[in-house]
Amino acid sequence: MVDIAVTKVKTPGTLPDPDKLGFGHYFTDHMFVMDYETGKGWHSPRIVPYEQFELYPSAMVLHYGQAIFEGMKAFRTDAGEIVVFRTLEYLNRFNRSAEILCIPKTDVAVVHEGLKKLLETDKRWVPAKHGTSLYIRPFIVATDPYVGVKSSDKYTLFIILSPSGAYYAAGFNPVGIRVEDKYVRAVPGGIGEAKTPGNYAASLRAQVEAKKEGYAQVLWLDGIERKYVEEVGTMNIFFKIKGEVVTPALNGSILGGITRKTVLELCQDWGVKATERQISIDEVFAAHEKGELEEVFGSGTAAVISPVGELSWKGRKLVIGDGKTGPFSQKLFDYVAGLQYGKVADKHGWVEKVAKV
Ligand code: COI
Repeated sequence: MVDIAVTKVKTPGTLPDPDKLGFGHYFTDHMFVMDYETGKGWHSPRIVPYEQFELYPSAMVLHYGQAIFEGMKAFRTDAGEIVVFRTLEYLNRFNRSAEILCIPKTDVAVVHEGLKKLLETDKRWVPAKHGTSLYIRPFIVATDPYVGVKSSDKYTLFIILSPSGAYYAAGFNPVGIRVEDKYVRAVPGGIGEAKTPGNYAASLRAQVEAKKEGYAQVLWLDGIERKYVEEVGTMNIFFKIKGEVVTPALNGSILGGITRKTVLELCQDWGVKATERQISIDEVFAAHEKGELEEVFGSGTAAVISPVGELSWKGRKLVIGDGKTGPFSQKLFDYVAGLQYGKVADKHGWVEKVAKV
């Protein structure tokens, strides 16, 4: 057992209105914190009140972006249990990102213990309404006060919690996506597969331009040939073509989504052919022309499944399934949400019970 000290807030906060949560605006009373120093390793895991923290203006993360994060969710089931979806998968991916950013790996067991204790402490903040959840944001930042370029000798790990509703204002409704042909997000050999702030900073310019044209997100093409589909906005992407589900193969520049993995595993369970391979944007448009493109959807932790109703590429517009949510996207969404809220039996052992309210 890990010794995790708990310091509680003096005045617990007021819970937000569950109908007006939005995404990522509210934070719970406490957070989990742990420090790292070269020679000492990760130490002092603790739960403390959620509040501002001190950092030198020279802290390395502020200059060179040495940081990583994760995004996972806790749900309140109808039976009053607090559950987390595929916890260890996320914590292992956190360490994979650490490796890529030269951040010392964490002991997954300690972070897991810390997360469970934090959720027990703040369980009253897990919203009950269907479609809401407690978004869990673990992250690590480099704190060394030094402005030379190198990997830091000091880091702080945090886990903060945010009661949230749908990620997109559109909720589970088809979104319009612009295929990005000017900017690229990442290239193989880079850091595209890590969950690190730089990848999200790199996406902003395209996102702003797409929004101006009325699109919710951009679809990224590969950074070399600008031909193959990579991912969409902050999500992985799937195409259903003539009954077969296709998603870009992980190539080092695509984030290996946990929801992506869940979709692939469910396809296998349901006897739906699913293939991870290169898929060009030309192929997508050609499939549509032949009437073979049945559905397009994004997958991610925040949005779960996000149907794509329209794709725009170099002035060509393609409307998928009359711009309506397809039956397969709907089935996936219902199944995954059903698992998370305890309405569907968890035969894979994906749902971890962490507290009871
Ligand atoms: C997710 O779907 O988990 C994401 O990556 C979105 C997050 C950056 C808000």
